[in-house]
Amino acid sequence: MSNYGDFDMMALESNGLVNMEKRQEKEEPDEAVFTSEDPIRLFSDWLDAASKKELNDPTAMSLATVDVTGMPNVRMILLKQADEDGFVFYTNLESRKGEELIANPKAALCFHWKTLRRSVRVQGLVERVTDEEADAYFASRPKDSQIGAWASRQSRPLKGRFELETEVAKFGAKYALTKVPRPPQWSGFRVRPVQIEFWRDRWFRLHDRLKFERGSDAKGDWKSQRLFP
Ligand SMILES: Cc1cc2nc3c(=O)[nH]c(=O)nc-3n(C[C@H](O)[C@H](O)[C@H](O)COP(=O)(O)O)c2cc1C
Repeated sequence: MSNYGDFDMMALESNGLVNMEKRQEKEEPDEAVFTSEDPIRLFSDWLDAASKKELNDPTAMSLATVDVTGMPNVRMILLKQADEDGFVFYTNLESRKGEELIANPKAALCFHWKTLRRSVRVQGLVERVTDEEADAYFASRPKDSQIGAWASRQSRPLKGRFELETEVAKFGAKYALTKVPRPPQWSGFRVRPVQIEFWRDRWFRLHDRLKFERGSDAKGDWKSQRLFP
C-alpha cells in the first residue's frame, strides 16, 4: 500500500482516478497533437485546445523566479498574451515576484492542462511591458479589479481582512466618479522564450517530449529535439 499523507494511492488507482496504465481513451495521433514546427504556433494550438477542455483557467501557469540568494520561488499567475514577442502577465512590481524579476530578469513558466494531459514549460529572459501596453490592459479590467490593484500592496504583511477592506473602501471612494488610473506599481512582464518544451502524456509513461531551443539572447532560429520521457 502506497500512502502519500492522507491519500491512499492504491484506492485512488483502483477507482481509476490516477490509473494511467488502464486508460480507455484512444491516443491521439502525433499529427493531431504536434500541429506545427513553430513553437509559438504550436503553443497557440495547445492553448486553444485547452481553452475548449479545461474547466478553469486554461491560461493559468506557474512562474518560477530566483531571489538574490539563489533561492527559487514559484507561484501561479495568468497568461494574458502569447505571441512572437513572448509570454505576458500582469502583477504588482513591488510584490515578491516583481522584486525578484527586477533583480534577476530570468524566469521559467509551466502550464499543466490536466484534462488534455499536456504540459508546456518555458525558460526565458524577462522585461517590463511598455506603459502603453500596461495602460491598455489595465483599462480593460473591471472597475473593482482596478480598485483592488490600488488597494493591495501585494506580498506585504496584512494585519487582517479589515485592513484590506479599508483600503478598498478608500480607493473606491476616491475613484467613485472617475476612471481609475493604473497604479504606477502595477504593470506587466514579458518572458522572451529561449526554450519551450511540449510534453504530452502517453500510455505506460512513455510520454512525448519535444524541446525547442534558440540563442540565449532569445533570438535566432528555433531548433527542435525530441527527448526521452
Ligand atoms: C490560478 C491563479 C492565477 C493567479 N494569477 C495571478 C496574476 O495573474 N497576477 C498576480 O499578480 N497574481 C496572481 N495570482 C496570485 C499569485 O499566485 C500570488 O499569490 C501573488 O501574485 C503573490 O506572489 P508573490 O508574493 O510571489 O509576488 C494567481 C493565483 C492563482 C492560483
